[in-house]
Amino acid sequence: MPFDPYLDIGYQCSGSQQLDAQGTPVHGDSKEAFCATNNALMTGYVAPPGADVFAGSTLYTPPVPGHATTCSEYTAASAALNDKLNGLLFDALGVDDTERARLASRPFMVLKQMRYAGDPSDVAAGRLGAGAHADWGAFTLLATDMTPGLQVQMDGNWLPVPPKPGCLIINSGDQIAQLTNDAYRSAVHRVVTQSSQPRLSTAVFTYFNLEATVAPLSRFVTAETPARHPSGRTTLEYFHFKLHESMDRGGYNAMSSASASHPAPAPGLCGSGAGFVDLSLWTSDRDTLVAQVAAAATQSGFLQVYNHGMPQEVIDSAFAAAEKLFALPDEIKGRTPFAGWAGGWEKEAQVRPSTGTADLKESFQFGYTSSCAWPAEADAPGLRATLTQFMAAAHAVSAVLLRALALALHMPETFLLDEHDPIAPDVQTALRLLHYMPLTGRGQGDIAGRWRAGAHTDFDVLTLLFQRPGQAGLEICPAPGKSDASDADIWVPVPPSPGCITCNLGDMLALWTGNAVTSTRHRVRAPPGGSAQAQQPRFSIAYFNQAKASTLIRAPRDDLPALTGRQFMEQAIGRNFAALAARKALLASQKSVK
Ligand SMILES: [Fe+2]
Ligand SMILES: [Fe+2]
Repeated sequence: MPFDPYLDIGYQCSGSQQLDAQGTPVHGDSKEAFCATNNALMTGYVAPPGADVFAGSTLYTPPVPGHATTCSEYTAASAALNDKLNGLLFDALGVDDTERARLASRPFMVLKQMRYAGDPSDVAAGRLGAGAHADWGAFTLLATDMTPGLQVQMDGNWLPVPPKPGCLIINSGDQIAQLTNDAYRSAVHRVVTQSSQPRLSTAVFTYFNLEATVAPLSRFVTAETPARHPSGRTTLEYFHFKLHESMDRGGYNAMSSASASHPAPAPGLCGSGAGFVDLSLWTSDRDTLVAQVAAAATQSGFLQVYNHGMPQEVIDSAFAAAEKLFALPDEIKGRTPFAGWAGGWEKEAQVRPSTGTADLKESFQFGYTSSCAWPAEADAPGLRATLTQFMAAAHAVSAVLLRALALALHMPETFLLDEHDPIAPDVQTALRLLHYMPLTGRGQGDIAGRWRAGAHTDFDVLTLLFQRPGQAGLEICPAPGKSDASDADIWVPVPPSPGCITCNLGDMLALWTGNAVTSTRHRVRAPPGGSAQAQQPRFSIAYFNQAKASTLIRAPRDDLPALTGRQFMEQAIGRNFAALAARKALLASQKSVK
């Protein structure tokens, strides 16, 4: 089971997590891990009173016989030990019985089995088993195979924590620091592996009750030591906050294999007005990045982003999955037909008002919500896992861009990001795989007037478009105020550029800003019939950041409507249908005149 960063469960491959919040290491952590949890509230599972705390781990199904049972027993034993530790903690803190029950009943627990393999760590080179971090919960119960490696930070120095036979290593985490207003520490620690011998460890992270609010005990808040943590946050809210923090800074997936920096592409490489932007400036020179994003937003509406930190293998895997999926017989793909919000498959069925003819393409659309349709696992093995990982990584890149965009548009930094929360129940962000079929056997007469994708603007806030080198065709019309007819304007190509994600702004952001930003028309040209290029397919992947259904999109102008994210999408789709009907009527009248 692949890692699901929204539930914190599943398999994390080596390099896929980067724990150091400061981003000091260049590389992802070398460990690989299996995570499981009794995440009852998050999976909607309601455990009966007295049930095994592990019973809610319904999504954890490792393909190893007996593994789930062993994990369950281990977690139950850990829960008993955690109970004793909580008792000692509450005794030391003088916590009364009511408060004990509120905090420590039905604790939330995450079991993580880790294997550190491969090369020894190289601290100077930023290569670590696990980067410096503090744990998020109350207690961590760590068992190791006696291979050393754990270090704890004390007064600025890193001290080894050598394993001792018969001992578990226990450390306190953020929740105990919150409860004691930092009188008890959430210890910063890391793992530095010292040989290529694998190191195995198993951690159980315990949290207080998911619904319990964790605030500093009154005796720790004084005039000299005012409250140092926000109060009123539940365990679940803090856990989600930490997950967001990890995802938004690319702590999962996105920065994992950021190898050597990508050199800046030659200026004017595509001559399109889609400027190249180095996304790593977000950490090194934020003002410059924000200025570049502001320029792109108000000029071409397109930019080519490099040094984005998204692992190439994640992108390659998604393209490989798309190729496999589209290679299936239409009959199988048709088992998941396109059905509006649920997504699904269409083939030569999308007709743009700008052309009145169906795009020469097929596409599959997916989303984050449970109402989204996915092909059966038997029909497309591994597809959902691969694309879920891709979406998490695309969200991490989007998060940086949405923050930069917000700053460029003089909004609070997280204003746009907060409205694209992939965990929100009404998230509307969508992923679309696109396959522009080879036009083999179709002569120029057959495809005259047809487009691989007719001219259009995107409905969303921000699109990330993944193109493949050698599969060109995208064109944009960066000059505003021209007609909507496909050939009347000046169109310039945006060819795929290695290491770049093509990004563009959409209609939703245009409304939100009172048309201060440009939602630029674009299209995909069909190669001439019978040409060598026409024999080649084109694949692309679009990740559409669409604000949540409940988000209120209000322009800073009175003459534009205030709409919810859902109303906006419905109206945009409605306008599209109306324009299409008008276009078809026009084409029909032209035909009858001839
Ligand atoms: Fe840790
Ligand atoms: Fe588009």
